[in-house]
Amino acid sequence: MDAFDCIATKLDVREFSRQKVPSEIKSKVLEAARLTGTGLNTQHWRFILVQDNLKRLADDSTSGGWVSGADFAVIVLTNPKYNFHMIDAGRVMQNMQLAAWNYGVVSGVFTGIKEAQFRSDFAIPKELNPTIVLGFGYPVRKLAGKKSRMALGELVFMEKYGNKGQL
Ligand SMILES: Cc1cc2nc3c(=O)[nH]c(=O)nc-3n(C[C@H](O)[C@H](O)[C@H](O)COP(=O)(O)O)c2cc1C
Repeated sequence: MDAFDCIATKLDVREFSRQKVPSEIKSKVLEAARLTGTGLNTQHWRFILVQDNLKRLADDSTSGGWVSGADFAVIVLTNPKYNFHMIDAGRVMQNMQLAAWNYGVVSGVFTGIKEAQFRSDFAIPKELNPTIVLGFGYPVRKLAGKKSRMALGELVFMEKYGNKGQL
């Protein structure tokens, strides 16, 4: 898929079919994570692949109960001693989602967790933060492809904040 089309058509999805995602696609998603750049190339992040404990993952969440219906999930751990660790998390999240969507696999993300329970259930070391969780699977229906987004004219300024203009 063309890179721009992949970005333009990717939606965050919270409902998945029962169809299994082949392990080759899971590998691609994890490779996309590995290949993503981190600030100072620290590669401080770690990833936990969850396939057998999706129900537990959902129970430990406050905003991602839908992950129980995913085929697999990836917990992104980042090290908060780097002040850019959240930027790194955002980059890797999007790369994994786009890599998956390139193969027709959809995904959703969540950040809300019951932290103590989550840390204990997934053996998260204290120096790492469970920053974001992604759930992946095949869609149950064809995606409508409609995004609710502000217009470029509202978001982009020319040279200085507030200057509206044409490209
Ligand atoms: C930093 C971040 C945190 C998010 N947290 C949650 C979450 O906790 N639960 C959830 O269901 N979706 C979560 N989302 C998904 C957003 O709701 C979604 O990206 C947004 O509605 C746009 O969706 P669309 O691309 O399908 O239009 C999060 C997204 C981001 C970028």
